[in-house]
Amino acid sequence: MTEQAKLILAPIRGITDCFFRTLFQQYFPGFDSSLAPFINPQRHSSFQPKQLKDLLPEHNRLMPVVPQLLHTNAEDFLFLASRLHELGYKEVNWNLGCPAPMVTKKHRGSGLLPFPEQIIAFLDHVLPRLPMAMSIKTRLGYEDKNELLTLLPRLDSYPLTEIIIHPRLGRQLYRGKTDREAFGICLAASEHSIVYNGDITTVSEFRELQEQFPKISKWMIGRGALANPFLAGEIKKSDISEKHHTLLSFHNELYTCYRELLSGQAHLLGRMKQLWIYLSAFLPPEKKTWKKIKKCRTEEKYQQVVADIFKT
Ligand SMILES: Cc1cc2nc3c(=O)[nH]c(=O)nc-3n(C[C@H](O)[C@H](O)[C@H](O)COP(=O)(O)O)c2cc1C
Repeated sequence: MTEQAKLILAPIRGITDCFFRTLFQQYFPGFDSSLAPFINPQRHSSFQPKQLKDLLPEHNRLMPVVPQLLHTNAEDFLFLASRLHELGYKEVNWNLGCPAPMVTKKHRGSGLLPFPEQIIAFLDHVLPRLPMAMSIKTRLGYEDKNELLTLLPRLDSYPLTEIIIHPRLGRQLYRGKTDREAFGICLAASEHSIVYNGDITTVSEFRELQEQFPKISKWMIGRGALANPFLAGEIKKSDISEKHHTLLSFHNELYTCYRELLSGQAHLLGRMKQLWIYLSAFLPPEKKTWKKIKKCRTEEKYQQVVADIFKT
């Protein structure tokens, strides 16, 4: 059975703080986790406890969250990461995607993508010293979509949990369409687990992307979920593998119950077949469910056929 898609609430600085994340999860379940908006590097790199307020565990009980750092100074990054580790965080995300001119002009966020040697030097220094796992959120590039593409194979040897890609360039900000083709090329160029992020606003867009990128199992949604808070729930509810899972559990429980109640396999299979006359319609026609079930004469064969039908 295919695993259900995992949905991550994107960080939207100024909106998705801990209070928003908690209430959102309470009222609109559907997201599996969230990424916190970035912690901004301080001008004089002095640490202020209020920087961590949004990430205090007592404010983040309902929605699992991964903190994010925008820092490019390795020592400052390590310092904050160790504070986050003390708070109990097992992963930190590095922001290599922010397009804000105030950020990119300092060669931070997507502004660092034209400088791959600095990225590699940063990882070489930070990763061996980091007390937790690390993931990256990024774009196709700042100026040019070859920036990420040429960087990706070099990232294969680093132990990153995942790379979240928003398929736009930094200089585009949020203008223009997301470049799905370039995303597909990046996906093929990396051995890391890749998360898709960008412009998912409806269930049908999501399904289209799922079909286009069957390898992707994690999806990040930001503005689409703000515009339709039910979006993640709608995506989850209509997920066919989830429905199949529920159906199989229901079937198994019913089968066990009749197995105890009815005497002999002929009665048991007869009863289950009555149900399958109707239930077969739920499964795709190419499974030929009813034809296969109808022929079962033994419990063993029946169980084999059911397992086969629910295999995806
Ligand atoms: C106002 C605003 C604030 C954002 N803040 C962050 C942030 O703090 N960290 C980050 O990685 N991305 C940030 N993003 C980018 C989003 O997380 C996401 O990558 C982007 O909106 C594309 O996804 P979407 O189309 O699903 O919204 C921000 C985007 C907006 C519009």
